[in-house]
Amino acid sequence: MTSLSASEVLRPTELVDLVQPDYVVARFERMVSDRNLMNMLFYGQPGVGKTSAARLLLKKIDMDVYEVNGSIKTGIDQVRDEIEKFCTHYSIYGQPKACFIDECEFLSASAQAGLRGVIEKFREVRFILTANDIIKLHPALKSRCMPISFDPSPLQAEEIISRIAPRYHLKLEDAGLEIGDKALREILFTEFPDLRRVANRLEFEALPRQPSAVLNGTTDLGMEHNSDPPSISHPSSNDWSTAY
Ligand SMILES: Nc1ncnc2c1ncn2[C@@H]1O[C@H](COP(=O)(O)OP(=O)(O)OP(=O)(O)O)[C@@H](O)[C@H]1O
Ligand SMILES: [Mg+2]
Repeated sequence: MTSLSASEVLRPTELVDLVQPDYVVARFERMVSDRNLMNMLFYGQPGVGKTSAARLLLKKIDMDVYEVNGSIKTGIDQVRDEIEKFCTHYSIYGQPKACFIDECEFLSASAQAGLRGVIEKFREVRFILTANDIIKLHPALKSRCMPISFDPSPLQAEEIISRIAPRYHLKLEDAGLEIGDKALREILFTEFPDLRRVANRLEFEALPRQPSAVLNGTTDLGMEHNSDPPSISHPSSNDWSTAY
């Protein structure tokens, strides 16, 4: 049996793993092949994979990255001293540079104002910001980054689930775990797009791989799964739900 948690097993390793419709994945792939990232703001509810997506993109492009958690370093001093210092320095290996500010809605108003100036000044440095609550972001900061919603519409969710479900099966199989296709789809359709909840359910319901462990949608825990996945319920989207 695997010693990895379901969350570690499912962690995205390729851009197709991301909870984004195909056309956004294709756009990300082009950024990777061109090694040319846009300034972007990933936003959406907790657990939808914003931080993981940012880290994966930065790793794929092999950028020189400075990562800040906006909920820990919230002040103007950090922007001025640390981020600006990073932007000024040459990259040791000549890689393109990126500044990743996770949970940037927690930056103070003065830090957000300072960041606007830094983004303007250092055009060769790319910025990826993530936020749950974009209402707290200054409009001038938002307008400097391409907004990418991680709260898919019901139609997009179906497309994404069809793409990632087979990959989940393979990843679980590689980790020595197994779950019936119907059971997996039920979990995805119920919990999507909260991938933390998906991982928790799988941690609970996936079983060590044995030939008779999974009986066509019924786990050994005795949990019956409907043959038809329930319809997807969605949190209320914010103004930018159709932004990209
Ligand atoms: N594309 C993915 N497929 C499967 N699991 C994923 C994916 N992206 C992230 N995860 C897993 O889901 C969990 C939440 O991911 P992550 O921390 O990136 O979400 P988040 O949107 O940044 O959440 P928060 O808003 O709370 O910071 C992590 O355990 C991560 O391993
Ligand atoms: Mg996060």
